[in-house]
Amino acid sequence: MGQTPREVVFQLPLQRGTTPLAQQLAAHIRNLVSDGKLQRGDRLPASRLIAKELGVARGTVSDAVETLIAEGVLEGKQGAGTFVVIEPRVLSPARLHLAAHREVPLNPAPEPDIDAQTEVLIDLRPCRPSVAEFPVQAWRRCMSLAASAPLSSDYGDSQGSYRLRTAICDYLRRARGLRSEPEDLIITNGSVHAMHLLTLAFLNTRSTVYFEDPGYPLARQTFASSGATIAPCSVDRDGLLLESLGSRHRGSALVYVTPSHQFPLGSRLSITRRQQLVAWSDKHNALIAEDDYDGEYRYDVPPLAPIYSLAPERVVYFGTFSKTLFPDLRIGFAVAPRPILDVMRRYRTIFEYNGNSQIQHALATFIENGSFERHILKMRRVYSKKRAAVQERISKEIRTAHVTGINSGLSFTLELDESVDAHQVHRQLTTRGVLLPTISRYCANQKHKVNGLVFGFAEPSIDQLDQGLDQLIAVLNP
Ligand SMILES: Cc1ncc(COP(=O)(O)O)c(C=O)c1O
Repeated sequence: MGQTPREVVFQLPLQRGTTPLAQQLAAHIRNLVSDGKLQRGDRLPASRLIAKELGVARGTVSDAVETLIAEGVLEGKQGAGTFVVIEPRVLSPARLHLAAHREVPLNPAPEPDIDAQTEVLIDLRPCRPSVAEFPVQAWRRCMSLAASAPLSSDYGDSQGSYRLRTAICDYLRRARGLRSEPEDLIITNGSVHAMHLLTLAFLNTRSTVYFEDPGYPLARQTFASSGATIAPCSVDRDGLLLESLGSRHRGSALVYVTPSHQFPLGSRLSITRRQQLVAWSDKHNALIAEDDYDGEYRYDVPPLAPIYSLAPERVVYFGTFSKTLFPDLRIGFAVAPRPILDVMRRYRTIFEYNGNSQIQHALATFIENGSFERHILKMRRVYSKKRAAVQERISKEIRTAHVTGINSGLSFTLELDESVDAHQVHRQLTTRGVLLPTISRYCANQKHKVNGLVFGFAEPSIDQLDQGLDQLIAVLNP
């Protein structure tokens, strides 16, 4: 202790008339500590000397020093001077950056042309619901009722509004045959948020996540952020291929599936495979993450019970209002075995306590008064019409591509013949202002050979779909 720091230290150019001089000086001293030029135990020169060196008032130096004492960077010792008391690495922005930035793969694989495209005429990307038919009046009434309810001085329930949880449970029982109690459910800011909570509750660096490939990049990144190993698993027209699961794990194991409508290929996991998956997870003590993101929309095929109904003690079921209502509503939920749900709820409490109570109440009313299910019924008819129109044109006018995965959801895949290359088609369409991503964009394993495109048919109007198809036909049938 007690060394006097190097002379160079206080030769800084202070800029008058911008940020207050005391703040500039404090920032400068902070940087010196971060860079290791001032170290723990170093004594600052007397304020009088610093003031003289810099040509500023002593009060300016005292203000800067007091700020840094309050921050815990410096400490004043009676009669001995002012000393640096913090390790330089604690302040280092480079280290903070590294700590916050775990090794998360960059997915979906960037397609610069699609991502940088500013002049979009027709947007055929998947998973985008149509909001043109949204019942604005009914929603406005629900919002207005929620806003007129008495306010609370509390934060609300960290598991989400009990009333909304009850409304969702009743809906899930009616519509999906899923039996649960409000106590089994947590409301979150979208289903990916619920996946984050599951990640915290269940995964660590020793865990393995068996993940559909191609699959939903955001879920993959979410699980990968725990440091868990991601084991990509193949998918075919019946959904996840059970043989590709293996039993590679030593720590906790999670299998992520989109059984109602595999993202992005569109297959439905057959009942046999659902049963096999449950049997596999029993044998290997794994948890199943069932992402039912657009299961409300199914066309000409019978319903299949959620995997959750087969094994509620082994499955976390994720649902969202992003596809049935609109994505920036940011409401989703998870139904989970209670010991897991309890940990998820505790993490939720630490981070933010609860979502927005008024919106949750508005949504509860919207479900209770029947508006939600009326809207879904209407949208099934709207999407059915669009889907039929697109399918008909493709089958009549395109020979080098065929449609798969169109029995449910808001998108399908266009498998391309070997004579055409999906990347080229995608690039050519992008220059024509049509966004139509490749399937490979969603592959964890970029060596995966999939020659196709993912076509979102829900959001564009019939007219826009026609214009998009005109361009696609022009590119595929030159
Ligand atoms: C496969 C899949 N899961 C979940 C979601 C929805 O996530 P959220 O509820 O966070 O909006 C999406 C959105 O596109 C998706 O494609």
